[in-house]
Amino acid sequence: MLNKNSFIDEHTGYRAIRSFVRREGRMTKGQQHALERHWQQFGLDTQQGYIDLDLVFGRAAPRILEIGLGMGDALVEMALTHPQNDYLGIEVYRPGVGSLLKKLDEQGMTNVRVFCDDARVVLKQMIPEASLDAVYIFFPDPWPKKRHHKRRLIQTPFIKLLGNKLKNGGTLHMATDWEDYAFHMMAVMKHALEFVNTAGQNNFSQRPDYRPLTKFEQRGRRLGHQVWDLIYTKACQL
Ligand SMILES: C[S@@+](CC[C@H](N)C(=O)[O-])C[C@H]1O[C@@H](n2cnc3c(N)ncnc32)[C@H](O)[C@@H]1O
Repeated sequence: MLNKNSFIDEHTGYRAIRSFVRREGRMTKGQQHALERHWQQFGLDTQQGYIDLDLVFGRAAPRILEIGLGMGDALVEMALTHPQNDYLGIEVYRPGVGSLLKKLDEQGMTNVRVFCDDARVVLKQMIPEASLDAVYIFFPDPWPKKRHHKRRLIQTPFIKLLGNKLKNGGTLHMATDWEDYAFHMMAVMKHALEFVNTAGQNNFSQRPDYRPLTKFEQRGRRLGHQVWDLIYTKACQL
């Protein structure tokens, strides 16, 4: 039976489990205002059919996607530091998207666009094959309880989907502060033969300079959490 935690995957026809709980949270006036005023400029509505990214950004440039951008601080920092790149963000949490839009407007940014939907749906329906130079997934919900592990975003079919959307030579960068999830990611990636671990098999990476400390990470650091970065290159199309 379908419930709020599951949906029918239109490609497979099977029930799929969501990696998030729909929580509207409290939207601040600023976030609401930003959603109303700036969605037209920076937001991309979910629709059927691949989008033309050169048309969306008005130029050809390296394209980087962040999945689960939270309140958008890391995305804004990366996009400001690397104006030569275009950034796409996906986040289901509307107040977070509102916060991002507010920052994009305040900074007068032109190299960021955002989707407010499930990353799996956006990727399948809208992101062209081999169009991304990098995908970043920083601190996906860890779902620590064993009975919830099936909700984790990082699973074999999702990695396969990302592999299709990345260019050859593109980067997949994940980070987590949950040890069990870090090893789960490593195990999933071992079976993803189109990807090569840049740190060598079974090794974690150092945080590279381009990855800002995220909000979620900073909270974890205050609690003494360790962080694991995993960085892969897409080596071929399988
Ligand atoms: C633990 S938070 C981390 C946020 C941010 N990356 C950070 O480090 O501060 C994970 C985020 O992923 C989002 N998320 C979870 N599943 C998602 C999905 N399938 N598509 C898009 N966003 C998702 C959640 O709404 C949440 O904001």
